[in-house]
Amino acid sequence: MSSDPAPNPHATAEQVEAARSDPKLANVLYHDWEAGTYDEKWSISYDERCIDYALGRFRAAAPWDGRPYLRALELGSGTGFFLLNLMQAGVAERGVVTDLSPGMVDAATRNAQGLGLDVEGKVVDGEHIPFPDDSFDLVVGHAVLHHIPDVAAALREVHRVLEPGGRFVFAGEPTTVGDAYARRLGQWTWNATTTLTKLPALQGWRRPQQELDESSRAAALEACVDIHTFDPADLERTARAAGFDGVRASTEEFSAAMLGWPVRTFEAAVPPGRLGWNWAMFAYHGWQRLSWVDEHLLSKVVPRSWFYNALLTGTTPR
Ligand SMILES: C[S@@+](CC[C@H](N)C(=O)[O-])C[C@H]1O[C@@H](n2cnc3c(N)ncnc32)[C@H](O)[C@@H]1O
Repeated sequence: MSSDPAPNPHATAEQVEAARSDPKLANVLYHDWEAGTYDEKWSISYDERCIDYALGRFRAAAPWDGRPYLRALELGSGTGFFLLNLMQAGVAERGVVTDLSPGMVDAATRNAQGLGLDVEGKVVDGEHIPFPDDSFDLVVGHAVLHHIPDVAAALREVHRVLEPGGRFVFAGEPTTVGDAYARRLGQWTWNATTTLTKLPALQGWRRPQQELDESSRAAALEACVDIHTFDPADLERTARAAGFDGVRASTEEFSAAMLGWPVRTFEAAVPPGRLGWNWAMFAYHGWQRLSWVDEHLLSKVVPRSWFYNALLTGTTPR
């Protein structure tokens, strides 16, 4: 039987108050609460669309010769978006999905079972990974480092559990410059949408007040769970100090992030299901086209620290 703690998707007001000064508790409560609706909220799927996306992020971060890693660990797996889709792409044969939030670990193991993947789940704090030295040949994470208070300690733990010659890949980390414009664009979109949908003619686009209140409460805890933004050069220095070789931080999404954040905020501000398939295709293809512009044109002239997403990789010495 698993010794993992049980999920707590309905935190009390006292627990939420305590979480304001305890980022790890805030992460557990916020993500336990989000686990049941997370895939829907972030349009996460386990089909070609997200397999391509996950593999694209992996390849943008690190070289891969097409041979599968034998045993992979994911930190901060959430519902399993990154590792499960990478496994479906053939990047790893067996995996362990871990997260600080028991609700997320449950969701990720359920998703893995549904996909028929050879995956275990465990509640793990990235600063203290409860596996012996040299347990894995690959460690991955997506949008997790910025939640971990001591990133240097987490990278030292990743180094310890990786066997010699093993690789880590972290993707989806917000840069400091990117986070500043993404937050501003998101806030403007939220204010404009929730104000305009008060007009009688746009009532059908208004999300029920109770759900909007819940989003605002979530946003209050969100401010406690997002701890860091990163400068790519600092990330590289931290990984080298943890003992890694071949360290490289790359970045992506500049104009794509300027479309993506307003789009995601708008989707959260209107009733679920209101926007439909055409909107989803507009958002996805728009993001794809702008990502192409970012990669092939803007990356040649815009400094890497201005792009929204940072990716980091490195290997342990052989
Ligand atoms: C933004 S979500 C990303 C989830 C998933 N990787 C994805 O991209 O969809 C961040 C995840 O990191 C987890 N997390 C936060 N702090 C953590 C820590 N100290 N150790 C491990 N996981 C943590 C959260 O519970 C949450 O599930």
